[in-house]
Amino acid sequence: MCGIIGFTGKSPAVPKLLEGLAALEYRGYDSAGAAYFTPDGLRTEKVGGRLSVLASRLSGTTDADITCGIGHTRWATHGTVSDANAHPHGNGRVYGVHNGIIENYRELTLWLAERGYTFTSDTDTERAVLLIDCLYRETGDPVKAMGEAAQRMTGSFAFALLFADRPGKIYAMRRGSPLFAAVSPEGTFAVSDIAAVLRYTRHFTRIGEGETAVLTAEGITFIAEDGSTVEKEYEWAEWDRTAAEKGGFPHFMLKEIWEEPTAVSATLAPLLSDSSFGLTETQIQNIRQIHIAACGTAMHAGLMGKYFMEKLARIPVNVEISSEFRYRDPILHPEDPVILISQSGETADTLAALRLAKERGNFTLAVVNVPGSAIAGEADAVLYTAAGPEIAVASTKAYTVQLAVLIYLAIRFGRIRGTLTQTEADGLLAQLADAHLYIEKALALSEACRHMAEKYRDHKNIFFIGRGRDYALSLEAALKMKEITYIHCEAYAAGEMKHGTISLIEKGTPVFAFATESAVWDKLLSNIQEVRSRGAQVLLFAPASLPVPEDAACDIIRLPDAPEICLPLCAAVPAQLMAYHTAVLLGRDVDKPRNLAKSVTVE
Ligand code: M6R
Repeated sequence: MCGIIGFTGKSPAVPKLLEGLAALEYRGYDSAGAAYFTPDGLRTEKVGGRLSVLASRLSGTTDADITCGIGHTRWATHGTVSDANAHPHGNGRVYGVHNGIIENYRELTLWLAERGYTFTSDTDTERAVLLIDCLYRETGDPVKAMGEAAQRMTGSFAFALLFADRPGKIYAMRRGSPLFAAVSPEGTFAVSDIAAVLRYTRHFTRIGEGETAVLTAEGITFIAEDGSTVEKEYEWAEWDRTAAEKGGFPHFMLKEIWEEPTAVSATLAPLLSDSSFGLTETQIQNIRQIHIAACGTAMHAGLMGKYFMEKLARIPVNVEISSEFRYRDPILHPEDPVILISQSGETADTLAALRLAKERGNFTLAVVNVPGSAIAGEADAVLYTAAGPEIAVASTKAYTVQLAVLIYLAIRFGRIRGTLTQTEADGLLAQLADAHLYIEKALALSEACRHMAEKYRDHKNIFFIGRGRDYALSLEAALKMKEITYIHCEAYAAGEMKHGTISLIEKGTPVFAFATESAVWDKLLSNIQEVRSRGAQVLLFAPASLPVPEDAACDIIRLPDAPEICLPLCAAVPAQLMAYHTAVLLGRDVDKPRNLAKSVTVE
């Protein structure tokens, strides 16, 4: 949550800050601000509103003399959305921007108040910056002050700071929250996500846990917690810069849905041609249970993966929301691997779940999209998904690629455990290799989905039902619809409705039903009849060749006929398109729905 960018160099800073913040808005977009050195001293500008407002206020400051500054885009944790709570925070001597949460900010407030400090915001960040200011006045050394402040703060943070008496320098440090340092011919950057500065550089390194980086126009020095200088190795970001642009689509979400076929084949290609994926055959044979920890959409991918792993490899799978897993004292046998799924690779709860599993000595396998992310860096093995940058807050292509990896693992584990013959495994892998073709066909359903969105857009509640894998899909379809349309949606295992929830069905209530699992089609049909006879309007998503009795549904979206292992990948597309078109018709901010952020780096 929250995006940070800092630039110091030989060319104008403000345009780079604004450009970078635009790319970082996915991390939070309720407020924006910047601080920068002018020939007359340190200045700040901040707004409790969108970046465009900040940009208009800064429109006169593209001056060549302004070559050092920091910027921030906020996702509120402490304090409402207001100018006062927007970052940067500071007092004229020091200004700082922050990503994370300072948990002991109340104690810090008292500590600072005792020393005569007063506050102009409700934020934890202001307390942290003033703490650094106080320690700077005592030590006269920004790095020492930041190091001491870090010891007094609990929680997670990434900071970029400007000290009024140190013009041209940015001081950055992190613990728990992401922050990268990057060098370019024009100067140096500190940034939450390297994708935001790809136009200027691809040379980056992650600022280490507890490290401080001092950025100047000439280069970056890294200082460890003990005060020693750290020699860093820089990496090269391979990502295509245009992948982080809309490319003619009205929204990132639609563009990203359209990228699903390419993303799935790019993800599977290296896996299908190389058989190594972190665990040895002996490890796989000895597994008693697999644990999957993830959040939101990634957790739904895990849930779908469970069905495949249990069916094809006959290995029990426990799927848990990371925030539950980490505090639940889970029972992990030594031979149980823990799979962490995360698009961003930065989700705080999933990172904590990973650390817990490692502490317990369990093997950790990360399925991650963002190279160089924290989860990728700490896991014992990583399977990268190749979705490229996912900018829209609503996850779409990241979901299908995660699913593709999990189905792949289920087939491979099944072969190694002997639950699949070589011929069966080869056949399934060949089907999976063609998944992108079926997903491409599913994209053709966009117009049908838009038409259905027109019909259902004004409802206040929608139920999503399915059985088996389709229940997992229903959970994801409901999440997608609710997060970007603000329509209340609930997903139910179809057979469970009659145990209480069916009392909510009345004349006209929309029920979206998924029927991709042939083994339970008859059962689902009965459940559809149960809601229909109570007045529900049913929109059914079913493969083209599935015979559907005429009175079974009010509307049908026909999915392409595909092998069963590819159907969930195809069915995700119309589910996402239904949410997309409904949100557009309702005039919602599709890529940046209210109250959300793309990367959830606080617990
Ligand atoms: O980056 P992650 O995959 O770890 O993010 C997990 C969730 O926050 C994320 O999947 C979220 O639920 C989606 N943006 C919803 O569309």
